[in-house]
Formats: sequence, structure tokens, C-alpha cells
Amino acid sequence: MSNSDIAKRIAAEAAAALVEDGMLVGLGSGSTLAYVVMALGRRVRDEGLDFTGVPTSSETEALAITQGITLTALSEAKLDLAIDGADEIETGTLRLIKGLGAALLREKIVVQASRRFVVVSDASKIVTHLGQRAPLPVEVVQFGQVATAHRLAELGGKPVLRLDRSGAPRITDGGNVIYDCGGFAPIRDPFTLQRQLKAIAGVVESGLFLDCAEQAIIGEPDGSTYTMWPAGAR
Ligand code: 5RP
Repeated sequence: MSNSDIAKRIAAEAAAALVEDGMLVGLGSGSTLAYVVMALGRRVRDEGLDFTGVPTSSETEALAITQGITLTALSEAKLDLAIDGADEIETGTLRLIKGLGAALLREKIVVQASRRFVVVSDASKIVTHLGQRAPLPVEVVQFGQVATAHRLAELGGKPVLRLDRSGAPRITDGGNVIYDCGGFAPIRDPFTLQRQLKAIAGVVESGLFLDCAEQAIIGEPDGSTYTMWPAGAR
């Protein structure tokens, strides 16, 4: 197992320990979240943990089923907790870029429906300014996508249509496409950028997750974890 995988797994186990009996828990997507799902599956089997998960992607749903986790669709107004990975975590603010796994829309809906949102990651995702290591994914409806991409380019985003392994456009679980926008970096005013993006009719959502993370649990390859909080939270 690589150092990064060890770090992700240890952070995932710490986050899985936050889940209690009776909770309704949003389960994000990606490789770190897969470790969370496996840790929760172990707790279900070993301790009889009795919680219900709300998966944010078909991949997470399929894995959770193999782990014996009870699942439901998002039909409640409020979840107790959402756990998810991130592509970038800004120090001090805990603002995030998400969506390199193409599940950003459902992930954001679940986060906004949750009382608490805990991020799990290894330290490689920590940045001082958003945009430092990842392009900003922007989910766009297929109708008129070229015109929408033109608008993203006018904003300075340098949009690149995401392709899957076969070279075809990556279609999200919501039936949309994703433009990865490397041109916004460094993102110094993410709130203004989010407003500008959402003003474009063809944009469904962006991968900016702003001021919603309660804490970020960071794993280290030596098996330790530490927690980052937004400035002023403690
Ligand atoms: C998916 C996401 C993931 O949380 C993000 O891409 C992190 O993935 P990983 O844990 O594999 O690094 O936002 O849409």
C-alpha cells in the first residue's frame, strides 16, 4: 500500500469513528471515501453499528452494498453528518475544491442537507490558495455545452472538456458533462467566482465548496492523524 493510501485509510478510520447508531450519514465519493465505506462496513459487521448511508455516486453505492451498509436515497430534509474527500483543502478557511471524481453535484446537495460536514484526506490536498494543484471542475448541462464553455472561457477559466478512458465525454450521474477550468487559479475570491459561474444558465454547479466543512481529518503515512478547523472555529 502506498504512503498516500495508508494516510487516506487512517483518516478514513478516524472519520468512520464519528458515526453513531441511528445516524443518517451522507457518503461522498472517491478513493478516500472508499476507505471510509470499508471502515464503516467493518463497524457494521464487528460492532453491529446501525446507521443509514446516503451515497453520492453509483460507485459509492455499489461499494456500500458489498459492505452490508443500509442505504437510502436523500429523502430527509436533514442528515446528521456528511463525510467526503476533497481535491484541495485551503488552510485557515477549509474551503474546498471537489469534483475530480465527477460527483460534485450530488456531493454538494448532500453536504448542504447535512448538519455537519467532515472532510477526510491525506496531506497532499492541503493548499494555501484554491486552484494551486487542481483545476476547478464545473458541471454543465449537455444542451448548448459549447456556448457554456465559451462563457467559461470569457471568465478566464480555460475550460477543458473532461473525457473518460475511451475518449468520450465523461457523463456524470446527473447526465451532465464537466469542464475542468485551470485558468481561475489562484482563486482569491471564490465567492465572487461562484456567483459568476452560477449566473451562466448552462452551469449546473461548480466544485467550490465554501465555508461548509466543520473539520478536516488529515492522515499521515506514519499512521497518525490531525484535525484542521476553520480559523475562529475553536
Ligand atoms: C469526487 C470528489 C472526491 O472527493 C475527490 O475527487 C477526492 O477523491 P480522492 O479521495 O480519490 O482523492 O470530489 O467528486
